[in-house]
This record gives sequence, C-alpha cells and structure tokens, in this order.
Amino acid sequence: MEREKSWIFWWLMPFMSYYMLYQNCLSEQYFCGNSCNISATISRNQAECCMNYTDNVLNGGNLSDTLRAIWTLEKVLEGTEVNGSMQLYVKTFVALLHKPSGPFGGLEIYANDTKVTPDVPLLNSKVIVQLPRELGAGPNNTFVFCMFKWPETNKSVFESPHEVYDQRLVGLSVQGKKISGLQERINITMEFTKKIDETQKPSCQFFNYSTYTFREDGCVTHWTHRQNNITCSCNHLTYFGILIIPDPSITKKDQEILTHITVIGCSISLFTLVITILLFITNRKLRQDVSMKVHINLVIALMLLNLHFLPSQAVAAGSSSGLCLYMALLLHYSLLATFSWMALEGFHLYLLLVKVFNIYVKKYLLKLGVVGWGVPAMIVSVVVIIDRTFYGLTPLDASNSSSTAM
Ligand SMILES: *[C@@H]1O[C@H](CO)[C@@H](O)[C@H](O)[C@H]1NC(C)=O
Ligand SMILES: *[C@@H]1O[C@H](CO)[C@@H](O)[C@H](O)[C@H]1NC(C)=O
Ligand SMILES: *[C@@H]1O[C@H](CO)[C@@H](O)[C@H](O)[C@H]1NC(C)=O
Ligand SMILES: *[C@@H]1O[C@H](CO)[C@@H](O)[C@H](O)[C@H]1NC(C)=O
Ligand SMILES: *[C@@H]1O[C@H](CO)[C@@H](O)[C@H](O)[C@H]1NC(C)=O
Ligand SMILES: *[C@@H]1O[C@H](CO)[C@@H](O)[C@H](O)[C@H]1NC(C)=O
Ligand SMILES: *[C@@H]1O[C@H](CO)[C@@H](O)[C@H](O)[C@H]1NC(C)=O
Ligand SMILES: *[C@@H]1O[C@H](CO)[C@@H](O)[C@H](O)[C@H]1NC(C)=O
Ligand SMILES: *[C@@H]1O[C@H](CO)[C@@H](O)[C@H](O)[C@H]1NC(C)=O
Ligand SMILES: *[C@@H]1O[C@H](CO)[C@@H](O)[C@H](O)[C@H]1NC(C)=O
Ligand SMILES: *[C@@H]1O[C@H](CO)[C@@H](O)[C@H](O)[C@H]1NC(C)=O
Repeated sequence: MEREKSWIFWWLMPFMSYYMLYQNCLSEQYFCGNSCNISATISRNQAECCMNYTDNVLNGGNLSDTLRAIWTLEKVLEGTEVNGSMQLYVKTFVALLHKPSGPFGGLEIYANDTKVTPDVPLLNSKVIVQLPRELGAGPNNTFVFCMFKWPETNKSVFESPHEVYDQRLVGLSVQGKKISGLQERINITMEFTKKIDETQKPSCQFFNYSTYTFREDGCVTHWTHRQNNITCSCNHLTYFGILIIPDPSITKKDQEILTHITVIGCSISLFTLVITILLFITNRKLRQDVSMKVHINLVIALMLLNLHFLPSQAVAAGSSSGLCLYMALLLHYSLLATFSWMALEGFHLYLLLVKVFNIYVKKYLLKLGVVGWGVPAMIVSVVVIIDRTFYGLTPLDASNSSSTAM
C-alpha cells in the first residue's frame, strides 16, 4: 500500500510543480480591474488594461457608457508615464504616446491596423497624421494618438445617420491643453480601399462630446472623385471620423431630370429606328444592297434594346418576377447583340474598303447572322445556366435599396 501511494506521489510530482510554476508566472501578469482609473501616475500596464476595458465596453455597452469609456481612455493615455515615445496595441486599438524632451518640432505619425510609428512609413499605412509645431507638446504635455475600429455589428456609430468610413475613428489630444484655432492645420490622411458611390462623398467630421454629434466646422476635406485617399485639415484636436454623406452635386432632382432625358432620348431613337425599318421594307432598291442588310440587323438590335430598356422601371415597379427576369434577359441579349452587330459593321466595312475587289464569301449574310445573333444568345444562356439570380432588380441609387429600381 505505502509503495503504491509514493508511486502516485512521484508520478504526480512533475505535474504539480509545473502547475505551481505556471501559477507563479500568471500572478506576475498584471491584474486588470474592471474599469479605467485616472490617477496621478499611470503605468503602461494600467493603460493597456484601460484599452482592454474600453474595447469590452465598445463591444457590449450602451452609447453613454461607450462615450464615457472613450473619454476616460483619452485621459488615461494622456496621464500615462512615458519617456520619448510609447506604442500600445490592444485588440483593435493602436495608440502612440509622445512626450518630447525638448521643444516640439512637429511630428508625422503613420498607423496601420496593427502598428503605429512616429516619422517612419509603415507597410499598408491606413492613416498618416501631420502635426504642426504649434501644438506645443512638451515635457508636461504628452501628445496622444489613438485609433480604433468600431465593432462591425453596430453600424450607427455614435447614432450618426451616416456611415462612418471603415468604422474607424482617430483620436488626437495633448495632455492638459485644449487645442483649437490652430494657424497651421493638422492633416489626417486616410487611405481608401472601399469604392465610394458616385452619389456620395466623404466628409471629415469630428465628434463633439457636448452634443453627441458629428460636426464639420474647423475641418476641411480634401478629396476628389476616384482619389484613393482623403486628407482632413483641422484646426483643433478631438476624435475624427470620415462620414460618407450624400453628394449634393448629384441631387435627387438631377437624377429625375437625367431619367427624363434618358426616356426622351431613347424614345426619339426608337421612333427613327422604326422609320428606318419602314423605309427599308418599302424600298426595293435598298432591300437588295448587302450593306443595307447588315445595317438593318444593327437597327433591329438597337430597337430591341430600346424596347426593353424603356419600360424597365415600370416592370420593376410591378411585382412580377417572371416578367422582370424576361426583361432583364432580353435587355442583356439585345445589348450584346448591339455590340456584336456594331463589330460586324466594322468587319463589313473592312472587307469593303481594304479588300475591295474579288471577295466572295459563301452565304456571307447567313454567316454574319449566326455570329451577330448567336454569340449573344450563347453568352446569355451560359449566364442563365450558371446563375439565374444574376438577372433581377437593381436600385438606380446604389446607396438606397428602396429607391427606384430597374
Ligand atoms: C481583457 O478583457 C477580457 C474580457 O473582459 C478579459 O477576459 C481579459 O482577461 C482582459 N485582458 C487582460 C490583459 O486583462
Ligand atoms: C481602479 O480602482 C478600483 C477601486 O479603486 C480597483 O478596484 C480597480 O482594480 C482599479 N482598476 C485598475 C485598472 O487599476
Ligand atoms: C447604460 O448602462 C449603464 C449600466 O451599465 C446604466 O447605468 C445606464 O443607465 C445605461 N444608459 C442608458 C442610456 O441606457
Ligand atoms: C522615464 O525616465 C525616468 C528617469 O530617467 C525613469 O525614472 C522612469 O522610470 C522612466 N519611465 C518609463 C516609463 O520608462
Ligand atoms: C503594419 O506595418 C508593419 C510594419 O511595416 C507590418 O509588419 C504589418 O504587417 C502591417 N500591418 C498590416 C495589417 O498591414
Ligand atoms: C497640412 O497641409 C497644408 C496644405 O494642405 C499645409 O499648408 C500644412 O502645412 C500641413 N500641415 C502640416 C502640419 O504639415
Ligand atoms: C512641468 O511641471 C512641473 C511640475 O508640475 C513644473 O515644475 C515644470 O516647470 C513644468 N515644466 C514645464 C516645461 O512647463
Ligand atoms: C448597437 O448599439 C445599441 C445602443 O446604441 C444597442 O442597443 C445594440 O444592442 C447594439 N447592437 C449590437 C448588435 O451590438
Ligand atoms: C460642441 O458643441 C457645443 C455646442 O454647440 C459648442 O459650444 C462646442 O464649441 C463644440 N465643441 C467643439 C470642439 O467644437
Ligand atoms: C493620395 O493620392 C494622391 C493621388 O491619388 C497621391 O498623389 C498622393 O501621393 C496620395 N497621398 C498619400 C499620402 O498616399
Ligand atoms: C430611398 O428611396 C425612397 C424611395 O424613393 C425614399 O422614400 C427614401 O427617402 C430614400 N432614402 C434615402 C436615405 O435617401
């Protein structure tokens, strides 16, 4: 019996000591309370705990809790003990604290999703911040940069009616100073990876804690369509985000006018196409010309296109999905047929002009017809076979799924 007991003891011994060692190591790790404390001296560990706590609140708390947590985090980071520069990474938060030992000579900050550095460009820099000398950070005034992403699940950041680009917010502050009305502006450049709709534009805005709203004043947005970065020039510091707002240069009214112009233009086109066909049918001399026959095929393709394009909004407004599918199919087919007959017109012209003499192609028109009407049919069939749901309703205004569809 005794022997057996000691055997068990020796057998357990290595596991026990490992467990004790492991426990010891764990206790050396900093213990995080469930809050952020603003005290006289804040260590790196406490700051990281606060970031962790803020992240938890961000993911689960209500709006007022979240705002208070972010505000507290800013104060905690400002009060964190730092010599020179310090980088902090916790979950989606990246932060840079900078306490210049001498006079502040301006600073450039580069940040991506996982790293932030002063003055050194990073791989995939998402945000670049240029700070003017005027900021006056100093030995008693730590500069704080903090960037994080709002959780994907909650689309309405700070109850803003507009989308915040990339759910990303950038916070800037200087310990013990209320920075506003700068002569030289702070530049925040953000990379764009997502395409912005034609009817929308980005707008640099800051969060006003006293009104709980995003405001634009004091910030200038530098951006043009198709530019893949945006620069915000602001004359004060706080939390900044890029809001995607409707572009007033293409208003609803403009869209209506454009729709009318389209309808009128297509109707005129349809009318003259019909006249062309009538002329062709009634005139025997025209009917015998090979070139005319090629033109007439193009005319028919264009007519089909107009016929199926014009009523497309009306069909979309009705609820028949079968009719919608038919219209979409035929619209696609006639558009492709227009392309192919346009190409055949070019081919025909080439034969006429370049190989003027002695060409004779057997069953020339039949062959053209097979290509002109057959290739589009083949493409449409393949699409239908692969995925029929490819054809369906599309909103005219991509940003508003309940807007007029076609
Ligand atoms: C961060 O928060 C989570 C969730 O509350 C917790 O499980 C984790 O231990 C925290 N991390 C640290 C380093 O305290
Ligand atoms: C903050 O203070 C409370 C009580 O004073 C304490 O329980 C908690 O652990 C502290 N939190 C941190 C992160 O130090
Ligand atoms: C948010 O939650 C806290 C508790 O976590 C509660 O005290 C507070 O009243 C809540 N605020 C709102 C607006 O629901
Ligand atoms: C900063 O430097 C001082 C004096 O050189 C030192 O006492 C302190 O521990 C340092 N703090 C940090 C966070 O490195
Ligand atoms: C951020 O930059 C660092 C250093 O250039 C790089 O190692 C890291 O992969 C980058 N992170 C992302 C998400 O691109
Ligand atoms: C920000 O950009 C403007 C020009 O767009 C420039 O005049 C200003 O000096 C820049 N600010 C910094 C801190 O570089
Ligand atoms: C920083 O603060 C300390 C104590 O609060 C003060 O003695 C010192 O003069 C301050 N330094 C500057 C540059 O303001
Ligand atoms: C989004 O935030 C609101 C409060 O602003 C909260 O009631 C809701 O549960 C959140 N939704 C998710 C999916 O977290
Ligand atoms: C926030 O809004 C209030 C009230 O409109 C205003 O007094 C305050 O100056 C604003 N804050 C900033 C930083 O613009
Ligand atoms: C922003 O984009 C413009 C043109 O697209 C480019 O010239 C400029 O260098 C970019 N700036 C940064 C900081 O990437
Ligand atoms: C979306 O379109 C519908 C119908 O035209 C309109 O009533 C609604 O106001 C639009 N919503 C937005 C956000 O523009």
